Amino acid sequence: MSRKVVLSGMRSTGKIHLGNYFGAVKNWVELQDKYDCYYFAADWHALTTDYEDTSGVAENTIEAVADWIAAGLSPEKSTIFVQSKVPEHAELHLILSMITPLGWLERVPTYKEQIRNLKTRDLKTYGFLGYPVLQTADILLYRAHLVPVGEDQASHLEISREIARRFNNFYGDLFPEPEALFTKIPKVPGIDGRKMSKSYGNTINLTDPPEIVEKKCMQMFTDPQRVKKSIPGRPEVCNLFKFHELVTTEEERTDIVARCKAAVLGCVEDKKILAEKLVNFLEPFRERRKQLTKSDVLDILEEGSRKAREKARETIYLVRKAIGLTYES
Ligand code: TRP
Repeated sequence: MSRKVVLSGMRSTGKIHLGNYFGAVKNWVELQDKYDCYYFAADWHALTTDYEDTSGVAENTIEAVADWIAAGLSPEKSTIFVQSKVPEHAELHLILSMITPLGWLERVPTYKEQIRNLKTRDLKTYGFLGYPVLQTADILLYRAHLVPVGEDQASHLEISREIARRFNNFYGDLFPEPEALFTKIPKVPGIDGRKMSKSYGNTINLTDPPEIVEKKCMQMFTDPQRVKKSIPGRPEVCNLFKFHELVTTEEERTDIVARCKAAVLGCVEDKKILAEKLVNFLEPFRERRKQLTKSDVLDILEEGSRKAREKARETIYLVRKAIGLTYES
């Protein structure tokens, strides 16, 4: 029995942060031993919003992939590649665009929301509306069964399933309906308490050196009512606690909570404890990352993209056959 196919991608936005790690990459690493895994940097997806200034996209791709590898993705176990190096994504995107009703795309909740939020750019483009179609092509090109993503991708995955179904209805069963594998980790907050996101400037990156991690911890928001140490803290509303949940053991946490609630442990001291835990947690990433050169990463991407392309070509052949455009005698 061949193994199920897992596929996931991330827009090429550069160095990865704790939110990317706990929300996606950690899960990717764990799936490598059980499935036939494909992971890629979605550089074309990055263009949907960064089309005006594209100067950082390639560099961001390389940075992100280096971080993935430092975090444990293995080119021996998984196929790690770049979307634009496998042009079959574009062909399948084109075919799928023919059968995707506009209404499905206009209804995606993230579509209108993003247009509203990213006011500095004109997102009323053909490409941006088609973002979920390109994402669907990414998935169907490898006939993936499982797609590990964060909850924020639920509506995109739903469209992918609908498009797969529609294709299969028109042209015969070719694509499995991809299933989302949601990560159970709660949303990782940024140092300001909002969702951790590069566009908010509130991230802790996997490769942040100790002094930066310490500085960021010192800036974190704690329980707003606790203006002095003698007031008992409320870990359930404190941002620090959400981070403790990621990097401390249950036992350590119980102790921290007890001392915080008893007004024994102050916020500044707590931040120092957290900083130390985070620095230790990040140490192995930083070490592995230091040993990876840009040319190592480029080699991995070259080989991964070649492998991905083999599978992609196979699917495209089947797609052409299904719709009757093979032109073979
Ligand atoms: N839209 C995804 C994100 O923003 C990235 C992505 C592109 C993706 N293509 C994909 C995820 C295919 C899973 C499968 O995170």
